[in-house]
Amino acid sequence: MVKSMTTAWAPGRVNLIGDHTDYSGGLVCPMAIELGTTVELSPGGTTVELTSDLEPGPAIVALGGAPGRAEGWAAYVAGVVGVLAPAQGGKGRVSTTLPVGAGLSSSAALEVALALALGADPDDPVRVAEACQRAEQIATGVPCGIMDQLVSMAGVEGHAVVIDCTTLVREPIPVPDGVEVLVAHSGEARALRGSAYAERRAQVEAAAAALGRPLADVAPPEVEQLDDAVLRKRARHVVRENARVRAFAAALSGRDAATAGALMNESHASLRDDFEVSTPALDALVAGLQAAPGVWGARLTGAGFGGCAVALCDTGRRPPLDGPAWVVRPSAGARVTRS
Ligand code: GLA
Repeated sequence: MVKSMTTAWAPGRVNLIGDHTDYSGGLVCPMAIELGTTVELSPGGTTVELTSDLEPGPAIVALGGAPGRAEGWAAYVAGVVGVLAPAQGGKGRVSTTLPVGAGLSSSAALEVALALALGADPDDPVRVAEACQRAEQIATGVPCGIMDQLVSMAGVEGHAVVIDCTTLVREPIPVPDGVEVLVAHSGEARALRGSAYAERRAQVEAAAAALGRPLADVAPPEVEQLDDAVLRKRARHVVRENARVRAFAAALSGRDAATAGALMNESHASLRDDFEVSTPALDALVAGLQAAPGVWGARLTGAGFGGCAVALCDTGRRPPLDGPAWVVRPSAGARVTRS
């Protein structure tokens, strides 16, 4: 009998604009990137057993077990296996071209690649992304939104993707010739991310409850009616960030890098001052990028509390940086082949 092999690949992502808007049904504009994670799996059996090029020990997860019990990278494997409850397991190996823990969604790439390797339907990106979002929440305890997993499934070559996180409808936005996307690491790990992320999400939900409707349906002036000063700032960020995503998409589609970059700069100020998820190291990195010749705009990207900044640059005019940095190219979403 010929042994079958399933190979699934899923990309990481960088978010160009629209942070902390996904979990209130707002707009985001991430881009799947050419760096990603591959899972090669020989299906069969009642456990999922994986080795990783980057990890010392294997991840071994029994089907039918309680999700979330595992430690380290096995927690992501256990999350996916627990949520998907596949009919059979498999043995295989994980490899990645993504820097792990750098803010390029290496965990979402692992979840999506594993879900596809275990038989999730590649033609149903929303369903796969929702399962992987749940797996991430179980694995990390962080009540994350759907952006990372959905763009990993639904990326479009040469494009960023605006996602309406209420309807989950996607609109590809071409990344124009002549500009490139640079990701630079602040050197700070995202230590407080778990609890602080959950706190921000709770504040956004409290603001929506006080206003009586989802923030995605609220106009900027209405936010100023909120009595609570903290909720007012959080809601102000979310509502204006949604408007910035729309304006950014229009600017990028019109090849107007100057306007797109200015909106990224505004987004950073809002994440720093109103949403309060930046750090001194991120602020310094972003300020340096914004001042560099050939850079149209820069902002922190992803959850914040450390991690990475993203900049829109003229092609070939990469600013000098002290820390790790990557020029990332827009990629298609995840794919799977069976042989
Ligand atoms: C993390 C989460 C996403 C999103 C961003 C912030 O990456 O996984 O769902 O909320 O933070 O925009």
